[in-house]
Amino acid sequence: MRLVVTGSSGDLGRAFLARVPAHHDVHAFDHAALDVGDHDAVRQVVEPLGPDAILNFAAFTRVDENESDQARAFRDNALGPQHLALAARAIGSVLVHISTDYVFDGEKRTPYDETDVPSPLSVYGRAKLAGERFVREIAPESFVVRVGYVYGGGNDYLSRTVRRLVSGETVGGLADRWGSPTFVGHLAERILPLVATGRFGLYHLGGPQPASWFEVLSRVQELAGSVGSVEPQRAAELGLPAPRPVSSALTSVFTPHLGIDPMPSLEEGLKDFLADALS
Ligand SMILES: NC(=O)c1ccc[n+]([C@@H]2O[C@H](COP(=O)([O-])OP(=O)(O)OC[C@H]3O[C@@H](n4cnc5c(N)ncnc54)[C@H](OP(=O)(O)O)[C@@H]3O)[C@@H](O)[C@H]2O)c1
Repeated sequence: MRLVVTGSSGDLGRAFLARVPAHHDVHAFDHAALDVGDHDAVRQVVEPLGPDAILNFAAFTRVDENESDQARAFRDNALGPQHLALAARAIGSVLVHISTDYVFDGEKRTPYDETDVPSPLSVYGRAKLAGERFVREIAPESFVVRVGYVYGGGNDYLSRTVRRLVSGETVGGLADRWGSPTFVGHLAERILPLVATGRFGLYHLGGPQPASWFEVLSRVQELAGSVGSVEPQRAAELGLPAPRPVSSALTSVFTPHLGIDPMPSLEEGLKDFLADALS
């Protein structure tokens, strides 16, 4: 397949490019090479390539900065996917767009499936939800894939914190927020199998076990052996600008029926992550 990849130097972009089978014809664009918020640039760069699929891994992901820079939040996280959807429709490409667990408000307290009604708390969540809707309305031959608590890409919260932990530092992990920790490599490996199903729609793709970052770091501490210590933190102590859901764990009522490999356990995810991170 000919593939266009946006946001290629982000955590998911790099994990995907490291795993994509060599027979695919991949055209990867980092932020400098293609700004998805620039309508004309997207149309002029993507359409002449005529890709079979466009994989949008680009996003303005710094959740707190989305609160203070709403113009960029809606430009990059809502209009960016709109531009890609228009390009995909014009040339008959399949669009894969990545969205977030932060479209939910966390009030449900049990994992959210695809039939739950979104109610975002933050600017980031509202902008990403608007992006999902543009994609589904403009490009019906598309996949919207919601993910959350993704780790192991190198620059994410867990990768940075584990580097400090293994160097002997004491690290804090939130103990009163829960999600679906998902190893980025396991997510990346499932993107093309999902495309190959041809079963367009909205899917949740997350690790199968809800956990807090404190629980995850405590398990990392056990697996990694002689490292620093982990202390529980409460979200209120951090005073972060963007409101975040208490529990945004994801489950899926659809992906078990698609014939793609189920997401591995938290234990397998952490072991695969640590095999990379500690080597
Ligand atoms: N990581 C998670 O836990 C998580 C959770 C929920 C959803 N997601 C979603 O997963 C997807 C992949 O995120 P990630 O984890 O790989 O995040 P990431 O590491 O922050 O990567 C995002 C990439 O997008 C680029 N980018 C930002 N604005 C852009 C624009 N206007 N045009 C083109 N590129 C732009 C960034 O480049 P610069 O850094 O140079 O700006 C960065 O390389 C995103 O859709 C994100 O919303 C991730």
